[in-house]
Amino acid sequence: MNLFDVYPINDITIVKAKGSYVWDDKGEQYLDLYGGHAVVSIGHTHPHWVKRIEEQLEKIAFYSNSIRIPLQQQLAEKLGTISGKETYQLFLCNSGAEANENALKLASFYNGRKKIIAFSKAFHGRTSLAVSATDNKNYIAPVNETENVIFLPFNDEDALDACFKKKGKEISSVIIEGIQGVGGINVAEDSFLKKVRALCDEYGAVYIADSVQCGYGRSGKFFSHDFAGVNADIYTMAKGMGNGFPVAGIIVAPHIKPKHFQLGTTFGGNHLACAAALAVLEVIEDEKLMGNAVMIGKYLRDELQSIPELQNVRGRGLMIGFDVPDELKELKKNLLWKQKIFTGEAKPNVIRLLPSLALKKKDAEQFIEAVKEEISLLSDK
Ligand SMILES: Cc1ncc(COP(=O)(O)O)c(C=O)c1O
Repeated sequence: MNLFDVYPINDITIVKAKGSYVWDDKGEQYLDLYGGHAVVSIGHTHPHWVKRIEEQLEKIAFYSNSIRIPLQQQLAEKLGTISGKETYQLFLCNSGAEANENALKLASFYNGRKKIIAFSKAFHGRTSLAVSATDNKNYIAPVNETENVIFLPFNDEDALDACFKKKGKEISSVIIEGIQGVGGINVAEDSFLKKVRALCDEYGAVYIADSVQCGYGRSGKFFSHDFAGVNADIYTMAKGMGNGFPVAGIIVAPHIKPKHFQLGTTFGGNHLACAAALAVLEVIEDEKLMGNAVMIGKYLRDELQSIPELQNVRGRGLMIGFDVPDELKELKKNLLWKQKIFTGEAKPNVIRLLPSLALKKKDAEQFIEAVKEEISLLSDK
């Protein structure tokens, strides 16, 4: 049997990983500024995370949600404290798409409405409703086409106002990334998120903060939506939550009450996933990783901004993007194959940095030196 070939891949086999480094099967070392797509939040194979998972594995890995799982309550409490959303309620699942799917569905259960507002360049995942709210026609199968999702331009307050004025009482939810990831690191303006909050309040819609990529401390605040100084009704989380162990969830504001059987999951919130997620939060707290994200993120952005060839350096904390002009389009490839540095990308010309929140200054310096060297070599051609 062959694999179902859904992605173009780099011909590299990684066999070992530690902190911000990975090694291939030939022993070559790479610096990882991609974090396996914003997933590796506390660093690869962090010893505390490994120990927590190993210890849990010796006790019990899984039992269904039909029994008490105290680790879930411990996770909810820790998450409440670190995120500052103590009064919210946690529902656990397995992936970012599933988190968004549950959030959109819960919003619709809550207010009995059908319409969803999403934005240009949004990416919310591959499941049916999440993909319908994703602004890429190539990802939407005919069966997922729906009249229920309204796409508006990102950061356009007038368009949002006009839509609510026209259809306000039909709008179930507004779903928005605090910083668009797949769309190319586009930061939602604070005033725009305030507007989302105000209009959702006025019309009884649910504000869903997709924090799958921009959440979990990556921006320097626990949720990048927090920069706007308003609360969302539901936050969705995944990627950095388990540092590579598949775990995801939503946290739900107290005014949205649970009803038995509206949401459910077999694997979500299993013992092993909770142990991994707790380990991540413990390390984020103990090693002050959100502070590190602010500091190293600022260093990287400042340095990148001082390189004249690069355009529109943007982002928050350790979620950074910049545009690469056409003459330097080989840059990402050269960083990987010549400098042995993984970075992320967004089509057509954006390099995305999504490293571990524990990235060290010396690693950031190595990256900047590598970028400068490759730019100068490409410019000489
Ligand atoms: C903002 C955002 N939402 C949702 C998802 C989907 O997450 P998953 O791939 O875990 O389903 C992603 C994945 O890249 C994402 O970036």
